[in-house]
Amino acid sequence: ISLKPYNTFGLEAKAKYFAIFESVEDLKDILQDQRFKKEKKLLLGGGSNILLMNDFDGLVLKNEIKGIEITSENSEKAILKAGGGENWHSFVLDTIERNLSGIENLSLIPGTVGAAPMQNIGAYGVEIKDVFVELEALNLETFEIERFDKAKCNFGYRESYFKHEGKGKYVILNVSFELSKIPNFNVSYGAIQDTLNEMGVKELSTKAISDAVIAIRKSKLPDPAEIGNSGSFFKNPEIEKSLYDEVKQQYPSIPSYPIDENTVKVPAGWLIEQAGWKGKRIGDIGVHAKQALVLVNYGGGKGQEIANLAYDIQASVLEKFGITINPEVNFIS
Ligand code: EPU
Repeated sequence: ISLKPYNTFGLEAKAKYFAIFESVEDLKDILQDQRFKKEKKLLLGGGSNILLMNDFDGLVLKNEIKGIEITSENSEKAILKAGGGENWHSFVLDTIERNLSGIENLSLIPGTVGAAPMQNIGAYGVEIKDVFVELEALNLETFEIERFDKAKCNFGYRESYFKHEGKGKYVILNVSFELSKIPNFNVSYGAIQDTLNEMGVKELSTKAISDAVIAIRKSKLPDPAEIGNSGSFFKNPEIEKSLYDEVKQQYPSIPSYPIDENTVKVPAGWLIEQAGWKGKRIGDIGVHAKQALVLVNYGGGKGQEIANLAYDIQASVLEKFGITINPEVNFIS
């Protein structure tokens, strides 16, 4: 089966086996099937954070566990549990319709609810760790359902337990979030306020913030339905203050966000643009013209070509600034 419809880069790659599960029982049945026991396995959510390097010689499992329910609530808060296979953006819109606040800033992020905790998705001043309560995941060795609270997930910037020790060992079945009935709007990210003003919004609401975020994302980020991409390809590097000070002497306009006394985060998009890559096209792949952090597939690109472009960008940023940038996207081979 072709995986092209199942990865937002739109890369052509074939899977030896492909199975969809809609419940944990389905999943266990598939995993216990003699045909698949020895096969390599790849878990797919929305396919929005993977780079398929070649055909996948194993079993691809697509999570389609659905359902959104309130599991507890009081006058101020509600805990919402969502199936891992729910589309992330539809879930965000659902919470807005329920007048719940907390994830409106995370509108229009591609992917699924189950994939969101893996890399602690974040945008415009909010990360899911801010509203995360717990998740349930199937342990692929013991077939037990395990609960992970926030501490066990070990969230960091685009990081979690599931990208490290827990990598490949679990299937995330559902995720619970604590959302607020009394909105606590986050408009700390300058572009949101500017966009709300441009839109003529007088009274803040979760819907207005969501609309502003959607407008900003649409203006900068390519729609995967039109141009294949995986959002930010690299993470923004966190570097030593001393290195930052050195670079700043030579490039005074370098933007930065303080992390702590000794560390600053710098936008990889800026570094890549300064290194001359923004808008560059090589055959059928390239660097997005409006956001240099995004690599794109115009149609016929190959995973290996995108990986090579990424290595070239990495090397040129390292040479120019002495800063190492690392991919946010998972390479699958
Ligand atoms: N910049 C450039 N050139 C570029 C891109 C960015 O100079 O080509 C500069 C901008 O001018 C700005 C700074 O870099 O000063 C930051 O840019 P932007 O606000 O677009 O955000 P980002 O740091 O590039 C991160 C996330 C995005 C998220 C936005 C908004 C990462 C890896 N990326 O991008 O997340 O939407 O902030 O919060 O942290 C994603 O993860 O897929 C993603 C899109």
